[in-house]
Amino acid sequence: MPLLIQNGEIVTADDRYHADIYIEDQTITAIGKSLPCPPGTAIIDAANKLIFPGFIDPHVHIYLPFMGTFAKDTYETASVAALVGGTTTTIEMCCPSRNDDPLDSYYLWKQQAAGRSASDYAFHMAVTRFDDATESQLREIVADGTASFKIFLSYKNFFGIDDGEMYQTLHLARELGVIVTAHCENAELVSRLQQQLLAEGKTGPEWHEPSRPEIVEAEGTTRFATFLETTGATGYVVHLSCEPALNAAVAAKARGVKISVESVLPHFLLDKTYAEREGVEGMKFVMSPPLRDKRNQAALWAALKTGAVDTVGTDHCPFDLDQKLMGKDAFTNIPNGMPGIEERVNLIYTYGVKRGGLDLHLFVDALSTRAAKLFGLYPRKGAIALGSDADLVVYDPEYRGTLSSATHLANNDYCAFDGFEIEGRPSVVTVRGKVQVRDGVFVGEKGIGQFLRRQPNPAYKGDGHAG
Ligand code: URP
Ligand code: ZN
Ligand code: ZN
Repeated sequence: MPLLIQNGEIVTADDRYHADIYIEDQTITAIGKSLPCPPGTAIIDAANKLIFPGFIDPHVHIYLPFMGTFAKDTYETASVAALVGGTTTTIEMCCPSRNDDPLDSYYLWKQQAAGRSASDYAFHMAVTRFDDATESQLREIVADGTASFKIFLSYKNFFGIDDGEMYQTLHLARELGVIVTAHCENAELVSRLQQQLLAEGKTGPEWHEPSRPEIVEAEGTTRFATFLETTGATGYVVHLSCEPALNAAVAAKARGVKISVESVLPHFLLDKTYAEREGVEGMKFVMSPPLRDKRNQAALWAALKTGAVDTVGTDHCPFDLDQKLMGKDAFTNIPNGMPGIEERVNLIYTYGVKRGGLDLHLFVDALSTRAAKLFGLYPRKGAIALGSDADLVVYDPEYRGTLSSATHLANNDYCAFDGFEIEGRPSVVTVRGKVQVRDGVFVGEKGIGQFLRRQPNPAYKGDGHAG
C-alpha cells in the first residue's frame, strides 16, 4: 500500500525543509508541499517531527564466534533493536578466524541473516589470512556484492594478519576498487603487555586498558596509513578511540592518504573508569580498543564537529555477564565487546546535537549519509530523494526517557548505557516504506530485510579521494 508522510520537517546531510513524502513500491516517488493523497494510501502525520534518512550502522557484530564463545545476538534480535533505535541498515563484520575457510564463512554469515533480519544489511569481509587461495576467494566475494574488506592488526593468531598479508590485501583491494576497514592496534605489543601485567598479578578488568595503551593504537593507525599511502589503497579506521590515533589519521589525511575514520558510541560517552569498577561490573565495559581516559572524549566530539571523524558506528558486540565472567581470573579472557545498536542514534542526538552543539546535518552525515557514500550504498540509502529506498526515521525531538537494562532489546542481559537520559527518539521507522516501528515498539515483520549488493568504487582504484 502506498504511504504518505505529511507535515514533517525533512533533515538530510545538506538540507532542511518542510515537505510531504510519498512512497510507492518501496521507494520515494514524490517529495513536495501538500502532496495529493490517492485513495488507498496510508497516512502518517509527522507534524512537529523531524524526518531523517534511515540511519546506517557501519560496524556491528551479530554472529561472532570469539574468545571461546559467541556474541549473544541473532539477526532476529539485533535487527529489531537496531530499528527501534532508528538504524535501518547494518553492515556486519564477517569475521572468520585464521583457521576457518573464508568462503565457507562468508556464506555461513549470510545464512545467519537471510530470512531473519527485519532491516537491510551488508557485510565487510574480514581477511584473516592471505594465502594462495585468498585472491580468488575474495574476487568471488566482491562479485557477490560484498565490496569492502576488514583487517585486524590486533588479535594475534586469531583474526590478526601480519604486515605482508596487509600489503597483499591492500594491493588487491586497490586493484578491485574495494575499501579496506582496519582495527588498528599493534598485536605484538598488546600480547607482550598482557603477559607482563598478568605476570605481575594484575588480572582484573582495570588492566585491560593499560595492556592496550593509546600509543599502541596510534602505532597501528600510523602503520595502516603508511601502507595505504604506499599501496594507493583506500582505507577506513574502525573504532578509533583516542587523540594520538586521531592525530595520526588526521596527519595522513592531510598529506593525501585516502583514509576515513570511524569512532564508536562507547568512546564518546564512557571512559576507562567504567572498566575499573569491581568484578563483573568492570568486565561489562571491556572492549578493544579500550575505554580511554576521559580527555579523549572531548577530542572525539571536536573531531566529529570538524569532520575529522567521518562516521559514528557502534561496534555492537553483546555478551552476557556469565560470558564476561570467563575472564574472572584474567582480564585477557573477558570477551571483548559491548552492545549499542539500539542506543547510538538517540545518544548521539542527545549528547551531540541537543547538549553538545553538534550540527544536525553533520549528525545525519556521520550516522547515515557518509557511511552510505563510503560503502557503496548511496543514494539508495543515506538520502531522502526521489528513487531512494524509503528508509525513513520520523523523529520525535520532544521525547524524554532514560535507558535501562530492563528494557533494552539486544539479546544480552545488560545495557552499557543504563541510566543515561535521552532527549528524542524515533516515533516511526520505515524500511523500504514498510512501517517497522512505532513509538519504541517493533510493529513490523521480521525477515523482510534484504542483503544489499554493493559495487566496487572506481575512485578506490586510482588516486581519487575517499567519500
Ligand atoms: O571489543 C570489541 N571491539 N569486540 C569486537 C571485535 C572488534 O575488535 O571489533
Ligand atoms: Zn575491532
Ligand atoms: Zn568490531
